[in-house]
Amino acid sequence: MRKIIIAIDGYSACGKSTTALEVARVLNYRYIDSGAMYRAVTLYFLDKHVALTNPREVSRALQEIKVSFVVNSKGISEVFLNGINVEKEIRKMRISENVSQVSTIREVRLAMVEQQRRMGKDCGVVMDGRDIGTVVFPQAELKIFLTADMLVRAFRRQKELLQHDDLVDIDTIIENLQQRDSIDSNRAESPLRKADDAIGIDTTHITIDEQVDEVVRLALAKMILQPKPKA
Ligand code: CDP
Repeated sequence: MRKIIIAIDGYSACGKSTTALEVARVLNYRYIDSGAMYRAVTLYFLDKHVALTNPREVSRALQEIKVSFVVNSKGISEVFLNGINVEKEIRKMRISENVSQVSTIREVRLAMVEQQRRMGKDCGVVMDGRDIGTVVFPQAELKIFLTADMLVRAFRRQKELLQHDDLVDIDTIIENLQQRDSIDSNRAESPLRKADDAIGIDTTHITIDEQVDEVVRLALAKMILQPKPKA
């Protein structure tokens, strides 16, 4: 069967990462969490006190950053920043509170998109994010756009944060999600939007298994039906 690129975009906490990870496992594809890359950059910028409004300083800092993924013993891909596992650290609220601002910076986007394209060049990839179907892989064979009601998203995120021992009240989470939705959708560079050829899935009332099944079904249809590219 032909290997394809699956792009999963959408708002925070709609189940993108969980769906993408499981779809990749079922299809034996590589999973790339593009949001984790922006989160790792944010962690570095915060720790090094990089002035976000100074493009020179940003560019210099970007040259010092190496973001990579390593698959752990459970088969789950974890993000490393300059050789250090930062998977836990990047999920904390202090990163969520700053990541969307960092993600508006042109230099940051150029560097991340270049790396993401390199990671996907051999196909057989599921990548989730905000601009995967529109900017990173506009040629992706399958594009999914996930949405869900705000309250459902907030409770899902709260549960996820608790798993990382981060107890955050629901109002703070809603505020953060709304703020990020707004920055992500209104930024000048690669704003979050549904690609014209993306398939929308509202995850408010469906389970993770149902989401995964639906995406796998759509992917298999593409893998079987898609004609091979001309040599
Ligand atoms: O996990 P969650 O859905 O909350 O977010 P994420 O996928 O980890 O992404 C964190 C932030 O990174 C988003 O709110 C965006 O500001 C930014 N991002 C982006 O700009 N482009 C992407 N392809 C992925 C994430």
